[in-house]
Amino acid sequence: MSRILSAVAWPYANGPRHIGHVAGFGVPSDVFSRYMRMAGHDVLMISGTDEHGTPILVQAEQEGVSPQELADRYNRVIVEDLTALGLSYDLFTRTTTGNHYRVAQELFKALHTNGYMIEKTTRGAVSPSTGRTLPDRYIEGTCPICGADGARGDQCDTCGNQLDAVDLENPRSRINGEVPKFVETEHFFLDLPALSAQLATWLESRQGWRPNVLNFSLNLLDDIRPRAMTRDIDWGIPVPLPGWVDNPNKRLYVWFDAVIGYLSSSIEWARRSGDDEAWRKWWNDPEAMSYYFMGKDNITFHSQIWPGELLAANGQGSKGGEMSRFGDLQLPTEVVSSEFLTMESSKFSSSRGHVIYVRDMLQRYQPDALRYFISVAGPETSDSDFTWAEFKRRTNDELVATWGNLVNRTVSLIHKNLGALPVLGELQPIDRAALDGSEEAFATVGGLIRQHRQRQAISEAMRVVSDANKYLAETAPWKTKTTDPDRTATVLGVAAQLVSDANTLLAPFLPHSAQKVHEALGGTGEFSPMPVIEEVDDLDLPKRHYPIMTGDYSAVAGTWKRCDLVAGVEVPAATPVFTKLDDDIVEAELARMAEE
Ligand code: MF3
Ligand code: ZN
Repeated sequence: MSRILSAVAWPYANGPRHIGHVAGFGVPSDVFSRYMRMAGHDVLMISGTDEHGTPILVQAEQEGVSPQELADRYNRVIVEDLTALGLSYDLFTRTTTGNHYRVAQELFKALHTNGYMIEKTTRGAVSPSTGRTLPDRYIEGTCPICGADGARGDQCDTCGNQLDAVDLENPRSRINGEVPKFVETEHFFLDLPALSAQLATWLESRQGWRPNVLNFSLNLLDDIRPRAMTRDIDWGIPVPLPGWVDNPNKRLYVWFDAVIGYLSSSIEWARRSGDDEAWRKWWNDPEAMSYYFMGKDNITFHSQIWPGELLAANGQGSKGGEMSRFGDLQLPTEVVSSEFLTMESSKFSSSRGHVIYVRDMLQRYQPDALRYFISVAGPETSDSDFTWAEFKRRTNDELVATWGNLVNRTVSLIHKNLGALPVLGELQPIDRAALDGSEEAFATVGGLIRQHRQRQAISEAMRVVSDANKYLAETAPWKTKTTDPDRTATVLGVAAQLVSDANTLLAPFLPHSAQKVHEALGGTGEFSPMPVIEEVDDLDLPKRHYPIMTGDYSAVAGTWKRCDLVAGVEVPAATPVFTKLDDDIVEAELARMAEE
């Protein structure tokens, strides 16, 4: 049994999430966590909404509400959507909690005390027309490193390097095109050069990472520079130092505090569990493993900034220092980054806002249909495209016709002919071959999920389903039911076992239907636990309440194996598990997208 931290990227609470977001971080992290729990590991899966920085401010301005109101609004929407999708967080919280503020400020102070936060005077951009600070990401120009045009002030998407707006050539505002004015301003910089040797040692010792993620991360070390971790902005966490903390226009950089969410949410989870120190088992033990799930635009922050913050807090950079009160914080075992999901890319450009929201999708379709599409055709190692035609085809031909049909056929044959799960008679070679094949799949599918090869993993699980369909076609129990009832019963018993095996193998991917299939075979109790929303009081701030996602997932511990069916258990009449989609949904959905 190992301890596994599933650290899932924090969605910005500046709007509802679209299916690209949940394809990047949501479904893959849930499949992994569900599998790891079933394999008997002690998983802590945490995340929350990211509620600071310019993304929130800009949207709040557009909607005419305060940033906190905006964050409250979309935090709730996101919590509801992720719950409907069945993402099994132990805690999904937010970055505007008292707990998070305290942890982020303490970590900042630890870094400062250890000498890794250096104060520097720099030049920051101001809009000449409004007099207000212009955040880096709202400036564009030519990248000083690779020469590409259209680089943003915070990052160049062409070469992937992080930038400072002041270094851009031909800088201009992305809001109104004006040339920003640069004025002197004080900021704290994370001394990444003082951490780079340790970051290199850590990265060089990583095994099994996706090669592009590791190479990208190693390349970042070539141009490692101090990075500003404070901003001229009035929304965010106050900088916890004398002379700064009361300055309403200086805040911690949103990315500095967001990644600390992984630690603070683990601490919040522990505090809510009644054992304040329980989080340490995932953070201070070198044997514990941590997996960080995100889209590719987040890699830098997880393979450089966050490990840099952790090393600095531990006093493990070239400047030395003391270990913080958080103890010896462990660096990520693996940064699991996916590529992007485009939506009907040939017809719509997502920059024009033609995206498919999780909420809309789940109002019309089953959550497992979306989870299936993402698992089998998601952007695991290269960009992939969601189309309604392909969604319909995969749902109807694969989920309904292959898997749903196997369940339905098997269950109704047993219900009508036997009424209950049968005692198996003597097994013939064809029975044994079928049973052995499906039992072997536990090792194969599990191994693939552990390596984050989920597309191949679900395809292997679906192969077990196809083999079971073949088994039924070859043994044709409906032909032998009057001539040889004993043989019929044995074949149906084997088929039920194959359905049960396939259902376990598919459960991490399709948890909603897994529960239904479990019950269709006469099973009772929780087979595939679901997250719940709880309204809680802030642990530290008076009069603040918010919804969290949490759940008790302990029922599945150690169930990644064949569950032997028990003869005599009643099998109820079959009800379809999956809904077949009409042909006209494709046209209807495309028309809907075109309207937006
Ligand atoms: N909010 C960021 C985004 O949507 C992700 C933050 S991940 C965190 O790109 F770890 F920093 F929180
Ligand atoms: Zn560049």
